[in-house]
Amino acid sequence: MSQLFIGQNLIHLRNDHVSYLIHILPGGVPMHLYWGKRLETLEPAQLIKHYGLPANGSFTTNNCAMDRVPGEYPSFGLGDMRQGALTVRREDGTTSCDLRFVSAEIDTEKQPLPGLPSAYGNGEQTLRLILKDELLGLKAVLRYTLFDDCDALARSVELINEGSETLSVEKAMSLCLQLPTRPYDILTLSGSWAREREMHRRPMLPGECSVGSIKGASSLQTSPFLAMMTPETTERQGEVYAFSLVYSGNFYAGALVDQQFSPRILLGINPDGFGWTLEPGQSFQTPEAIAVYSDAGLGGMSAQFHTLCAKHIVRGKFADQPRPILLNNWEATYFNFDHDKLVKLAKTAARVGVELFVLDDGWFGHRDSDNSSLGDWVVDRRKLPGGLTPLAEEIHQMGLKFGLWFEPEMISPDSDLYRAHPDWALHIDGRTPIEGRNQLTLDLSRQDVCDYIYESVSAILTENPIDYVKWDMNRNFSNVGSSLLPANRQRELPHRYMLGLYSILEKLIHRFPDVLFESCSSGGGRFDMGMLHYMPQTWCSDNTDAYSRCRIQYSTSLVFPPFAMGSHVSAVPNHQTGRITPLSTRGNVARSGCFGYELDLNSLTEEELTEISQQIKAVKAVRNTLLYGDFYRLLSPYDGNDTAWITVAKDGSEAVFTFERALFLSATYPPVVRLAGLDPAARYRIEETGEEYGGDELMYSGLYIPISNGDHASVGYILRRI
Ligand code: DGJ
Repeated sequence: MSQLFIGQNLIHLRNDHVSYLIHILPGGVPMHLYWGKRLETLEPAQLIKHYGLPANGSFTTNNCAMDRVPGEYPSFGLGDMRQGALTVRREDGTTSCDLRFVSAEIDTEKQPLPGLPSAYGNGEQTLRLILKDELLGLKAVLRYTLFDDCDALARSVELINEGSETLSVEKAMSLCLQLPTRPYDILTLSGSWAREREMHRRPMLPGECSVGSIKGASSLQTSPFLAMMTPETTERQGEVYAFSLVYSGNFYAGALVDQQFSPRILLGINPDGFGWTLEPGQSFQTPEAIAVYSDAGLGGMSAQFHTLCAKHIVRGKFADQPRPILLNNWEATYFNFDHDKLVKLAKTAARVGVELFVLDDGWFGHRDSDNSSLGDWVVDRRKLPGGLTPLAEEIHQMGLKFGLWFEPEMISPDSDLYRAHPDWALHIDGRTPIEGRNQLTLDLSRQDVCDYIYESVSAILTENPIDYVKWDMNRNFSNVGSSLLPANRQRELPHRYMLGLYSILEKLIHRFPDVLFESCSSGGGRFDMGMLHYMPQTWCSDNTDAYSRCRIQYSTSLVFPPFAMGSHVSAVPNHQTGRITPLSTRGNVARSGCFGYELDLNSLTEEELTEISQQIKAVKAVRNTLLYGDFYRLLSPYDGNDTAWITVAKDGSEAVFTFERALFLSATYPPVVRLAGLDPAARYRIEETGEEYGGDELMYSGLYIPISNGDHASVGYILRRI
C-alpha cells in the first residue's frame, strides 16, 4: 500500500518497497531528499544534515548554498548554476524564477491529466505540492502518485499564471530529481529505422548525457527512457533508477553530473523548439514522467515498468485479452492487390488458423505507390470494386476478423484534400514544403483538421465492419508552422499537435471500443507509453528479420511488456536485411509478442503451411502466458552470440522459453541456459521433448539446449508444471 505523510518540513511518500522524500528548506525552497528503497524512518535526519551544510557565503538563499541544493523543481539563475527544470521569461525579457513552498495537499484519487495520456490510479492518493513565485505571480502544482502495486512514481507539473503580466514558458520539465553522489552507468535506447531501441550503456561522467527528439514524435532514433545504475548492475542485481515519459512528442531525457558528482535527472518536453505563452489566468500542463526504482537489476526495473504498463497505462477491452493472431498483407502484396488476391490470401490464412486479416496501405484514393492520396479516405474502386464491406464480410465468413490500415495524420500533395486545403499541412509561408516519403504532415493544432481526421476515420469504421485499425505515421516534422497560430504561439505547435492527436484518439477509442488499435510509425517510431494509453499494441519495427528482432524485442522489453509489441513472421530472404532464417526461428521469436504473419502464404509450400498451422496452434495454447506472463531476459544479443528469454505464467503453471544462436559454433559444448521465474520446488515437463526437470535444476544448473547446425537456429519450449 502506498502512504503519504506530510510533516512540518518534510513529505514522505512510500509503498511497501520504496520511499520518495521532499524536504522544504527554510525560506521554502523545495529540496529533493531521497528516492529509493523504503525507509522505515519517516524523517531521516542524516539526509537533511547532508544537504544543509554551511553555505560559505556563496549564492545563498536563507543560508543555503543554492548551487549544492538538490532542487525538487529548480530554475537557473538565482544561485543554482546547473540546468534547471523551468525557464520563464517575463514581459521585460528577464528569465528568473523562484518557486517557494506554499502548501502540500492530497487528492484521494489520481486524476487524469486534461488532454494528455497519463497513468491511471487504483485508489492511490496524489500529492499536490503547491509552489509560487510571488514576483511573477506564477503558481506551480507538482503532482506525485506512488503506485501500490509497482515501484513507480508518476510526476507532472501544472503552471498557472496568477499574476498580471504575460509569461513565456521556455522550458517546463515534467520531472527533476537528484541521485546520491556515487558512480553510475547510464543506459539509453537509440537506433534508427529497422534498428530501433538498441541498448547503449556507458559510465556516467561529469557533464551532460541526454537523449531527445525534436522530430514531432518520440522517434525511431531514440526513446523517452533513461536508466542510471550502479556500475556492477546486471539483469538480476544492482540498483537502478529508471525514467520514462507518458508522451509521444518532442522530448528531452538527460542526466547532468555536477561538481558534487551528483546526477540531476531531467525529463520533459524538449525545450528546443518549445515555448508556451501564459496570459494572466491561463495554465499549462506538462506531460507525465515516470520514475522507477529497482534493487534487483535491470530485470527488476522491467518488472516494475511492465506492471505499470499493464495496470496503469493500457486501457480498454483488449488490455488483458488474448490478441488475435493476424496476417497483414503489406509484405505479401505491397500496393499491388485487388479484391480477389486479398480473398485468396485470407482463405489460406483461415486454413492455417489465423484469426485476423489486416489490409495495409493502398486501399484508398489512387494509391499505387507512396506518392499519393493520403488524406483521401475513400475506397479505391479499381482495386476493390465493391468497396470494403463485401471484402470484410467475405473475410468474416471465413471466420476471420478484418482490420484496416490508416495514416490519418498525413496528407499527400497529390490528394484532393491538399488541393482543397493546402493550408492544412504544416508549412512556413514563403518556404517550399519539404516532403518526407512524398508526404506532408497535417496541422493537428487546428480544430478543423482534427475534426476532419476524426470524421473520416469514424465514417470508414461506421460504414464497414472493421475489427482492428493499424494507425501509422510515416514522417517527422519539418516546416513547423501553422496558419492559425499567432506569432507568439508558433512554438506551441509541436505540443499542440500532440494535444490534437490525443483528443482524436480519445474520442475514437470511446466511440469504437470494440476495435483493436495498433500504433505504428515507420515501424517502432512512436513506441512510448503515450500511445500505449490509447492503443494496446505497437508495431515494434519494420525489420521482421528474426535475428534483428531478437535485438529489438530484447531491448524493447526493458520498458514494455510482450503484450505491447507487435511481432510477425515474414518471408525469407528477409525484405529488410536479406537474411535467411529458419521458419521455426521466425516463429519462436515473433511469438514472444502480439503474434502474426506478414508474407504471401500462397507462395509457401504445403510443408511450410503445415509448420505455420503448428506454430499457430502452439501459440493459441499458451497465448495468455506469452502476452501477460512475467518476462525474464536470460541471454543478451548485445553481449554475445545467443539470445534467450522466458515468459512465466502469473500462476506459475507454464512457461515459454526461447533461445536463438546467431552464428553456429563448431566444436563447442551445447549451450546451457539458466532459466528464471520458475518454482524451485516444482517439476516441469518440456512439452516438445517430454523430458521432466526440477525448477531448481533448470534455474540453478541450467537447461541444456540441443541446438542444431546452421546459423540462426533456435529452440522454443513450452514448460508445464507437473
Ligand atoms: C510503415 C509501416 O511500418 C509498415 O508496416 C507499413 O504499414 C507501411 N508503413 C505502409 O506504408
